[in-house]
Amino acid sequence: MAENNILLKAEGICKQFNGIPVLKEVDLEIKAGEVHSLMGENGAGKSTIIKILTGVYTKDAGQIYIEGEPVEIRNRQDSAKAGISVIYQELSLVPDLTVEENILLGKEESKFGFTKNKSMRKRVKELIEYYDFDLAPQMVVDTLGMAQRQMVEILKALSVRSKLIIMDEPTASLSAAESEKLFSTIDRLRSKGVSVLYISHRLDEVYRLSDRLTVMRNGENVGVLNKEEISPKTVIPMMLGRETNRAVKKGSINKREDICLSVRGLAYGNGLLKDVNFDAYGGEILGIGGLVGSGRTELVSCIYGILKPEKGTITLNGEPVSRSVKKNIEGGFAFVPEDRRGAGFIPKLSIEKNLVLPSYDLLAPSGLVAKHKEVEWSKAAIEEYDIRPAIASIPVQNLSGGNQQKVVIGRGLARKPKVLILDEPTAGIDVGVKSELYDIIRKLSDEGTIVILVSSDMAELCLLSDRVLVMHDGRFFEEIPGESVTQNDILMAASGVHTEGGRAL
Ligand SMILES: Nc1ncnc2c1ncn2[C@@H]1O[C@H](COP(=O)(O)OP(=O)(O)OP(=O)(O)O)[C@@H](O)[C@H]1O
Ligand SMILES: [Mg+2]
Repeated sequence: MAENNILLKAEGICKQFNGIPVLKEVDLEIKAGEVHSLMGENGAGKSTIIKILTGVYTKDAGQIYIEGEPVEIRNRQDSAKAGISVIYQELSLVPDLTVEENILLGKEESKFGFTKNKSMRKRVKELIEYYDFDLAPQMVVDTLGMAQRQMVEILKALSVRSKLIIMDEPTASLSAAESEKLFSTIDRLRSKGVSVLYISHRLDEVYRLSDRLTVMRNGENVGVLNKEEISPKTVIPMMLGRETNRAVKKGSINKREDICLSVRGLAYGNGLLKDVNFDAYGGEILGIGGLVGSGRTELVSCIYGILKPEKGTITLNGEPVSRSVKKNIEGGFAFVPEDRRGAGFIPKLSIEKNLVLPSYDLLAPSGLVAKHKEVEWSKAAIEEYDIRPAIASIPVQNLSGGNQQKVVIGRGLARKPKVLILDEPTAGIDVGVKSELYDIIRKLSDEGTIVILVSSDMAELCLLSDRVLVMHDGRFFEEIPGESVTQNDILMAASGVHTEGGRAL
């Protein structure tokens, strides 16, 4: 038995990229059967340490122990052998196959294939029962929600007897209800003695789940907290090395009736959106609430011109909004998409190019861009959005997740848009940057920009919105004033139950 029940110990882990130290003698210690969280600002090194534990990167220095024994993790196989699995954000399941087939995948050895398969089948069934997962072996993955898909990934890990399951921002793509499901899955893992290393920027989740918390800053450990020590007052200053501003106060509605985006009778996706109607005004932040899959992303994509609505009209100040994204960008629309990897930035290009490209028409009305203008433009954005490292030539794919998102936001906001559409803008962003971003959104709104905010982070929606429209069954079901809106109201309305403070639509 290992000393003090320590499952994994990493000591003095160092890692550099291009001569820049990213991990500086980092220690991490995970007990058997504990949920251990890892928090830290964007770029602190969380994903990097995980990649070292899972054999994606090799460490420059340091030692890893499993149950007291030194291990070398040179590749993914070594990591699996050490009992470590990771649940990736982009899940690796085959949608057309069943739960069982996905778990068996890659395990059908030819020799005793049949019997092996049979015993594996039995094991899948046993695992589902043992961990009491809300799954059946024959369910087709395509029909499952995100939380259930994560369960399948977890089962895959358990089927190879993993003792440590790592989750890097697992709730970023989950609704509140699905997140609850994941949390109860995690509770079950813990109760059966499996360890979980949990990375998240959402403090409430970390408080709820963690037995212990390691905080990182700037590639170093700043401390380990026990459950009873974990509170916002201790964690946030540790993470940031400074105090944050208090949350932005909701301003009084500064509505400009002369600036108006109007949507009438909009339909899309064979009944996903049936009949959407609303007006959004300059100077207000209009929050859009609803469950994941309720069509919010489709709605904003129709407005911006990425998707073609089946029916309906969209006008800005009485003029029809173009169906061309390019024209809309020139006309003052900006969009920060949910799917940042697919639509938000070009991974191989530098921070500078990514920031400048969408604004070429402004920088060079005649068609030729002076280099110094590009440099100035991107320098200003790097500063304003605190993109780190602040080196304009780095390809965006090498940035940490949160810093990539800052680039996406910088691209959208740099031109002071007339209509700003934000779809899950702060997923993966640390608390410090979040409050700065909220200030920027408020400021744009005060200057007359129409801000449309789609967010599954209910606290964010309540904090920022002057008015919340809640989507249910393909239309807006209720309007709730920003002064009184609560997370509970949004959830109720999203499920088709009218609330006291809301106005039925
Ligand atoms: N392949 C790479 N090449 C160069 N630099 C890299 C590479 N991968 C990571 N980095 C750098 O290492 C630092 C730590 O990044 P990491 O992804 O570990 O941060 P993180 O703590 O996961 O942040 P986030 O909360 O934003 O996801 C960042 O400065 C990042 O730019
Ligand atoms: Mg990360």
